[in-house]
Amino acid sequence: MNNHLIKILIADDDVNFRLVLTDIIKDLGYKSQQAVDGVDALEKLSITDFDLLLLDLTMPRMGGMDVLERLKEKKRTPEVIVVTSHATIRNAVEATKFGAFDFVAREEVEERLPVSIRNALNKRRLESENIKLKQETDSTPELLGESQPMQRLRQEIRKVALLNSTILIEGASGSGKELVAREIHVNSRLNESPLVTVNCSALPDTLVESELFGHVKGAFTNATSNKKGKFEIANDGTIFLDEIGDMSPGAQAKLLRVLETGDIQKVGATQPINVSVRVIAATNKNLAQEVSNRIFREDLYHRLNVIKIIVPALKDHQEDIPLLCRYFLKKYSRQNLIPQKMLTREALKELQSYSWPGNIRELRNLMERIAIMSTSETIDVWELHQWWNHATPKLIPYEDISSDLTLEDARRHFEAHYIRHILNKCSGNITKSAQRLSLNRSYLHEKIRELGI
Ligand SMILES: Nc1ncnc2c1ncn2[C@@H]1O[C@H](COP(=O)(O)OP(=O)(O)OP(=O)(O)O)[C@@H](O)[C@H]1O
Ligand SMILES: [Mg+2]
Repeated sequence: MNNHLIKILIADDDVNFRLVLTDIIKDLGYKSQQAVDGVDALEKLSITDFDLLLLDLTMPRMGGMDVLERLKEKKRTPEVIVVTSHATIRNAVEATKFGAFDFVAREEVEERLPVSIRNALNKRRLESENIKLKQETDSTPELLGESQPMQRLRQEIRKVALLNSTILIEGASGSGKELVAREIHVNSRLNESPLVTVNCSALPDTLVESELFGHVKGAFTNATSNKKGKFEIANDGTIFLDEIGDMSPGAQAKLLRVLETGDIQKVGATQPINVSVRVIAATNKNLAQEVSNRIFREDLYHRLNVIKIIVPALKDHQEDIPLLCRYFLKKYSRQNLIPQKMLTREALKELQSYSWPGNIRELRNLMERIAIMSTSETIDVWELHQWWNHATPKLIPYEDISSDLTLEDARRHFEAHYIRHILNKCSGNITKSAQRLSLNRSYLHEKIRELGI
């Protein structure tokens, strides 16, 4: 918090004492406003977000205790320091029970108040930093990406979110289908109701009906009470059928019935109930292909495939890799309260030339590993490969070692080329090569591993 942004309110009916407090606050480098009693204070608090309130207890119209009581109902309230005369110290102790941060006797303001103010503002600063951090790490992650494919995807999402049609999301594993489903929900008219998620691949045939439609008490051995199914919970809202391509044939048949009629039948119930639910389904399979392979029901496919959204694989929007890396490095360093790391341009290039079969999830996991494990501030190509176990760094051909490289990288490339050259000359014999290079054998082994020769 910047000193000149801090706002302090003094509530005291004694005009001379208000001036004493104003001076103390001014000496600390802060600005203040004055209120003449409790009513005036509450009015000023409703207009401005104050960080701190210095509060007298006995004032005309409304005393300090009542102010504290009223503040409890408000959302964002200032820290409160009760400043009062000896006679009411007992009350002041009581006031701290009502949420006051501290109390200072009038006679002691010169010595004690500055420290108390600093502590209260420190507490406030820490609290607001924590709130900010929590908001950043808790909130549903954003669907990032400035590349053409991602911009198009966001446009499609905005367009289809407002319709109530069924949506089928297809895309490779880890490409962001669940995030897309959430984005659709957040932008839809039904965003006040929850998004109810069902992982279809985890639904055995025996449980599918009870999970999706619920059961009544006594319907089967373990049905000790009535249970609502996911469709009933999602009524008037949205259901997200994740991994729909992995649904068993039995479950597919039951799902089709609901989509056709809107009626669900609880296990053990005699009457169906009608539900109104928007369906979003996702799969990493090519469902049309699964239909021709007779793994997925054709009629169900057509029910789901009203609007199809395809999430691009990461290799098809590599331009977004630098931005995604920065985002994940920031996220994981903040979450773990460690300094943030950077990737060199070469390291980013290396990441952009990879095919990413695990898509954004694979990239996220790598960035999390680096954010937590690395002790360097800047991660170069060589360190990148230390944390990335898919392959060793690609050697730039000797004649292409360009002026773009840092001295460190140029040295490593040169070393790698030279060691490879000697190894070739010695027909791969490590002992001989080590002798030629004047290195001991174990050190040469280590170099070969480190440089990915
Ligand atoms: N565009 C994006 N911007 C930021 N983070 C993303 C993006 N896409 C995906 N992620 C993150 O990558 C991870 C994987 O995404 P998600 O779970 O949505 O993938 P998925 O396609 O559902 O994968 P699967 O097929 O394995 O279920 C999540 O942590 C998600 O937050
Ligand atoms: Mg998923």
